[in-house]
Amino acid sequence: MKHTLIALSLALAPLPALANDATFEAVKVEAGEKLFAAECRRCHATDASHDSYGPPLENVIDRAAGSYPDYPYSTALSASGIVWTEAALRAWMEDNRGFMPGTKMRHVGITDTTVQNFILAYLRSVTTRDGKAVQD
Ligand code: HEC
Repeated sequence: MKHTLIALSLALAPLPALANDATFEAVKVEAGEKLFAAECRRCHATDASHDSYGPPLENVIDRAAGSYPDYPYSTALSASGIVWTEAALRAWMEDNRGFMPGTKMRHVGITDTTVQNFILAYLRSVTTRDGKAVQD
């Protein structure tokens, strides 16, 4: 038992030195990618070169809603006048149909803010400031 504890504390000892903000962000992006795969990927590509039933979501953060070129949005979405800030994306993930009645996106109900944080970290990782698509 004592040996196990010593071995455990030795194994854990280097962690605080490694766990900086970049590490946390990378871990969140990785978790977010998995959650996105489970909850969103069947309808949303994050790279315009892939087919996507819903609008592709690369560069979605701070993008005007309903602005992906040539995508056949519902009137509700294209006329909403909103911008996809992180707060708007949280409200959308939590209850998209309550947030925007008339949207044709099936209801998703992600109320867990940690899950939202992870998915947002992933969406940040596929958002570039020059508007160019990020490759998957
Ligand atoms: C069953 C398919 C489906 C799933 C699952 C789905 N979406 Fe959608 N999503 C759509 C469709 C269809 C639209 C277009 C809605 C409209 O025009 O009203 C859309 C629109 C969006 C938009 C608006 C984009 C824009 O260009 O304005 C965002 C943001 C979005 N979805 C995020 C997500 C996220 C995040 C998830 C996972 C948590 C998710 N969606 C899951 C089908 C889906």
